[in-house]
Amino acid sequence: MSSNPTILAFAGSTRQDSFNKKLVQIAAQGASNAGAEVTYLDLRDLPLPLFDEDLEAREGMPDNAKKLKELMIAHQGFLIASPEYNSSVSAVLKNAIDWASRPQPGEAPLACFKGKVAVVMSASPGALGGLRGLVHIRSILGNLSMIVLPEQKAIGSGYSAFTPEGNLQDPEQQSAVEQLGARLAEVVGKLGS
Ligand SMILES: Cc1cc2nc3c(=O)[nH]c(=O)nc-3n(C[C@H](O)[C@H](O)[C@H](O)COP(=O)(O)O)c2cc1C
Repeated sequence: MSSNPTILAFAGSTRQDSFNKKLVQIAAQGASNAGAEVTYLDLRDLPLPLFDEDLEAREGMPDNAKKLKELMIAHQGFLIASPEYNSSVSAVLKNAIDWASRPQPGEAPLACFKGKVAVVMSASPGALGGLRGLVHIRSILGNLSMIVLPEQKAIGSGYSAFTPEGNLQDPEQQSAVEQLGARLAEVVGKLGS
């Protein structure tokens, strides 16, 4: 296994032109520039049914939930950019977390979360940039025994904030988001877990 920090980057949106997909890829580039091995995951590629305990009891964990868990277990840190829906976490992100939180036989509890490090961010067309949702995401991840770093960014005015190439128009914002990724790489590298 590589000694470089390993980071999984994903957005809590499946939308093709998602602002949050763009945002997390900027942070991912920052992490990569800082020496991390980054895997970008589009949750659209791992469609999941809405979590249902009866479905789980009847059919077991869906293959895509297993794949998501494997990816999470294989990485030390997560970069997560998520839209705020009705002042809170998106259903896509919460559903992915709920499936990933379910244990598989022989697995330690919360195997894909416990002791891992996360950095969260958001983007939205609104002025607050999804800031209120980040409070909830932080709380959820913390309760899953993740270390959520204090640094975060919420990017407002999503329709005008990004260049056609997917970078941020404002060089200071671009650099700040890249720094989020670099900071995660640094902390994961120091923790070495
Ligand atoms: C059901 C729903 C609820 C939303 N609620 C909020 C909200 O509370 N705050 C906000 O800033 N934007 C809200 N929006 C707008 C989203 O921020 C916007 O659709 C954004 O583009 C979604 O993120 P994405 O671009 O990564 O897909 C909402 C959108 C939907 C569909």
